[in-house]
Amino acid sequence: MLKVGVIGVGSISQYHIQPYKDHPEVELVAFCDLNEQRLKKKGEEYGVSQLYTDYKELLKNKDIDAVSICTWNETHAEIGISALEAGKHVLVEKPLCTNVEEAHAFEKAARESGKTAQVGFVRRHGSNTKILKKFLDNGDLGELYYAKASVLRRLGNPGGWFSDKKRSGGGPLIDLGVHLIDLCWYLMGKPKPVSVTGNTYHSLGNRNNIQNLSFYKAADFDPARNDVEDLANALIRFENGASLFIDVSFTLHTKENEVSVKVFGDKGGAEIEPEFSIVAEKYDTILNIDPQVDHSEFNFVEAFNNEVDHFIQCCLGRSEVIAPISDGVEVMKMISAIYESAELGREVNL
Ligand SMILES: NC(=O)c1ccc[n+]([C@@H]2O[C@H](COP(=O)([O-])OP(=O)(O)OC[C@H]3O[C@@H](n4cnc5c(N)ncnc54)[C@H](O)[C@@H]3O)[C@@H](O)[C@H]2O)c1
Repeated sequence: MLKVGVIGVGSISQYHIQPYKDHPEVELVAFCDLNEQRLKKKGEEYGVSQLYTDYKELLKNKDIDAVSICTWNETHAEIGISALEAGKHVLVEKPLCTNVEEAHAFEKAARESGKTAQVGFVRRHGSNTKILKKFLDNGDLGELYYAKASVLRRLGNPGGWFSDKKRSGGGPLIDLGVHLIDLCWYLMGKPKPVSVTGNTYHSLGNRNNIQNLSFYKAADFDPARNDVEDLANALIRFENGASLFIDVSFTLHTKENEVSVKVFGDKGGAEIEPEFSIVAEKYDTILNIDPQVDHSEFNFVEAFNNEVDHFIQCCLGRSEVIAPISDGVEVMKMISAIYESAELGREVNL
């Protein structure tokens, strides 16, 4: 039995807790949260009696083999490094942390501990990503030389810690862009990034004035606090000549919300969002291929189940982590370089 603790029991934690709870080889033994009321409620809901408000106390518990870290971004490195030093396996939510220095320290701790250490790059675990990866690994799309991805929310700054730069490390770029950059970079075969041009904008604020249209708000929504960008775009160039363009917003004067992830190779292309499809050429004819799958779009619950199950298999020594901390470091480097480029108003070399 793998004994697991979950640190941070807010919104996303349920997608970790439920698959642990359902797994026959896992015992969910402890929860930790700064918010005592939330902690107690979650403990009652899942029948977990070891409840901590200080993660350091949880880590002293010798019974616990592994932890999921589902806290605010700013705390990921500190808690993750302490957990590895305490001999626990670690699954840390995205982003790995909020800056490159912390990312390197996290990687060092992971290396020295010899424990399983996985970043919650959940998009890698979507079933369509896994299918597409097979096509890519078998060369069906040839060399990928361009990828383009967007998450444009017209009204969707969640507020709370998300819009407090100190706790989040940034806005839509570090929150949503991290998924897009990671997914495209992973599908492209993890080429080495060499330069970045980025722009960030704070033109619209959190638009708390808008009426008649509801949007998701974090538990501790406070309209007075918002110092993160509301739009970011970036062009990343890789050593092999390939490039990646992304744009992400918490709010933008766009007609509707948009999610798209597209990759283009010299033999074919693919769209993983909004709907999985593959583009090919055969006998001088262009083909649009619609894979027949249960979910043609990203399935949140299924991907989280896959991610947590993969972590469990790795902790039990049956599998190798597909999203190691070192990948989190590379993604962190790209994100930091985008923020730096936006601030300097010019291209930044990595
Ligand atoms: N993979 C995804 O698709 C996805 C989606 C949403 C959020 N996330 C990530 O999950 C993390 C949490 O996001 P959320 O939406 O659940 O936020 P949330 O605010 O709902 O929950 C975070 C919880 O962590 C607790 N917390 C913060 N610091 C703590 C500490 N030092 N010790 C103990 N508890 C602490 C808070 O009290 C809160 O209950 C973030 O890093 C976010 O980027 C990932």
